[in-house]
Amino acid sequence: MTINIILLGPPGAGKGTQARILVEERGLVQLSTGDMLRAARTSGTEMGNRVAEVMDRGQLVTDEIVIGLIREKLSEGGNGFIFDGFPRTLAQSDALGHLLEETGMTLDAVVEMRVEDEALVRRITGRFTCGNCGEVYHDETRPTKEPGVCDVCGSTDLRRRADDNEESLKTRLLEYYKKTSPLIGYYYAKNKLKSVDGLAEVDTVAAEINSVLKS
Ligand code: AP5
Repeated sequence: MTINIILLGPPGAGKGTQARILVEERGLVQLSTGDMLRAARTSGTEMGNRVAEVMDRGQLVTDEIVIGLIREKLSEGGNGFIFDGFPRTLAQSDALGHLLEETGMTLDAVVEMRVEDEALVRRITGRFTCGNCGEVYHDETRPTKEPGVCDVCGSTDLRRRADDNEESLKTRLLEYYKKTSPLIGYYYAKNKLKSVDGLAEVDTVAAEINSVLKS
């Protein structure tokens, strides 16, 4: 079944981890604005350099840039989308509503992933990802089977993000509570909000997401 969903939650809530599971299980397309912006920053363009500075500080990139990125991806089409890390402001939510309307799509659910701040710090400071296939790991809770080698694709290009440190995380959390958490009420009022306990183990969270998507 084709569905369009938003994964909403603070940095480290597990949005990327769950999006990858949903892609595999349901064949949806993951649209991660964080990944798109990380790709843009490696381009060496003026825009890429500006984006890199803002991301490293832990602040939000302008609505104009991220809405432009999502517009471009939606125009490529797909059989259902997972919006991962987008929208993050009320202006982005409004823009998404218009973009979906223009393309004849509807938003089926907004899954809020609840995780307390203390756990977020542990998750973010221990995270690393595969630079080749994007698989997400953690030093303690999800290490690679063979040290330094990705379990999925065998690449040794394992990376840590420049903004995964306690200082940037503090700003990222402030930005989340100030600008993104109002979306919880926004989507609740539209009867789209489903909340899950993001503190549970990865498979348990995935099962809960499947269950709320069925209801
Ligand atoms: P983005 O890349 O979107 O980062 P984020 O929202 O801060 O979220 P993260 O990717 O850090 O965490 P996640 O929830 O995906 O968790 P993950 O699954 O990796 O954005 C980065 C920056 O880009 C922003 O700060 C901003 O500057 C800019 N940006 C992006 N989108 C924007 C927008 N729309 N507007 C403006 N600016 C934008 O998991 C984290 C760790 O926890 C991993 O190690 C994982 O293995 C582990 N883990 C996951 N689930 C569990 C579990 N259930 N139990 C135990 N460990 C778990």
